Amino acid sequence: MTNALRLGVAGLGTVGASVIRLLNKHGDAIADKAGRAIKVTAVSARDKTRDRGVDLSNVAWFTDAIEMAKSSDVDVFIELMGGDFGPAEDSVRAALASGKHVVTANKALLAKHGVELAQLAEENGVSLNYEAAVAGGIPIVKTLRESMAGNEITRVYGILNGTCNYILTRMEAEGISFEDCLADAQKLGYAEADPTFDIEGNDTAHKLAILTSLAFGTKISADDVYLEGITSVTTADIKAADELGYRIKLLGVAQKTETGIEQRVHPTMVPKASAIARIDGVLNAVAVDGDFVGEIVLVGPGAGGNATASAVVGDISDVARGDLVPALGKPASKLLDYTRARMRLHEGGYYIRFAVHDRAGAFAAIAQCMADAEISLESIVQRRTGDLVEGGEMEGADIAQPVILITYETTEVAVRKALDAITATGVIAGKPQLIRIEKLS
Ligand code: HSE
Repeated sequence: MTNALRLGVAGLGTVGASVIRLLNKHGDAIADKAGRAIKVTAVSARDKTRDRGVDLSNVAWFTDAIEMAKSSDVDVFIELMGGDFGPAEDSVRAALASGKHVVTANKALLAKHGVELAQLAEENGVSLNYEAAVAGGIPIVKTLRESMAGNEITRVYGILNGTCNYILTRMEAEGISFEDCLADAQKLGYAEADPTFDIEGNDTAHKLAILTSLAFGTKISADDVYLEGITSVTTADIKAADELGYRIKLLGVAQKTETGIEQRVHPTMVPKASAIARIDGVLNAVAVDGDFVGEIVLVGPGAGGNATASAVVGDISDVARGDLVPALGKPASKLLDYTRARMRLHEGGYYIRFAVHDRAGAFAAIAQCMADAEISLESIVQRRTGDLVEGGEMEGADIAQPVILITYETTEVAVRKALDAITATGVIAGKPQLIRIEKLS
């Protein structure tokens, strides 16, 4: 056997400690498969005194991750600190520039600097592996980059944030408040250091931007992701969705359209019969439509120390075997420029919930505005006050009746025009709630 592959692990939080535990438990079996022993020889973390439940007595400690990244005693730099600038960015650049392979779980870093870092890895003849950055333990990076290389991809979509899926699932099943569900997700180690990144959809957007590049061979363009988080979703919407045959999920969707590539993250109504509707709790799922294979769906844990460590160690094992694949599936110079499809041209069905003033002609006014915008309605549901509007979730609900519309396929621009016109009539109270419906098989 050749010399052991020497790892320097930067960041000893939940994931870092799990990686070390996994290697301690399965190191021999991994070495047999990779043809080479794998050894953690150095670590870098802020607090040396903290007990992480793993034995670190025989490893070198670095207070400066950049120094560790450049150390001649490290072959692979494992970046588990997080963040798209500062120590994470500087140390990854330093590692690649000094000829070290890099394995990272850092989606924000990849989403922002992925193309440059892929190029730096190429120039230095080393790997930049990041399976853990997207959908935790699900091997979607390798699936898109390698296993599905023979397909033209038309759409990739999925549940990419365990925290949001956990919250939506518990709100629906147990009627628990949004805040309590979020607190539990934090306790379980699913949420980001700043959980607004989870609930406002930024984390999903980072992962989606990486998937878009892998699926369509384009440069990563995270700034072009249309973004809506889950904070506006109420139990009233979840209940209405259920009655109408849907569930609400935070989806990230990237698809080719006639005008470019649409990247969007928003709460989405998905038909109950679809595979994605059945994904509960912290599980993630990614679906890919390929022209030869058809649709594939991968499901698995999207967050948590052990699931993420599984993906990190898979990447390490590839390095140990000597696999060297371009980080984004092809040389960085061959990545296409990203052309953004305008969200206003998005086509699909819509769920719209209004609080409608109880007065003659209100319904007719809404119907007229919809007709003027050439929107055809699939269903209209009117409920008694309090039936689908709970606890002041919709401003002005005390004086208004909840009305829910489901539209047939239309465009975003038509819906926006209709909602502006309806608001201007004064027949509704507060802001309408709008949730897009995704067409799924
Ligand atoms: N906060 C992320 C999630 C962790 O909830 O999915 C994995 O990226």
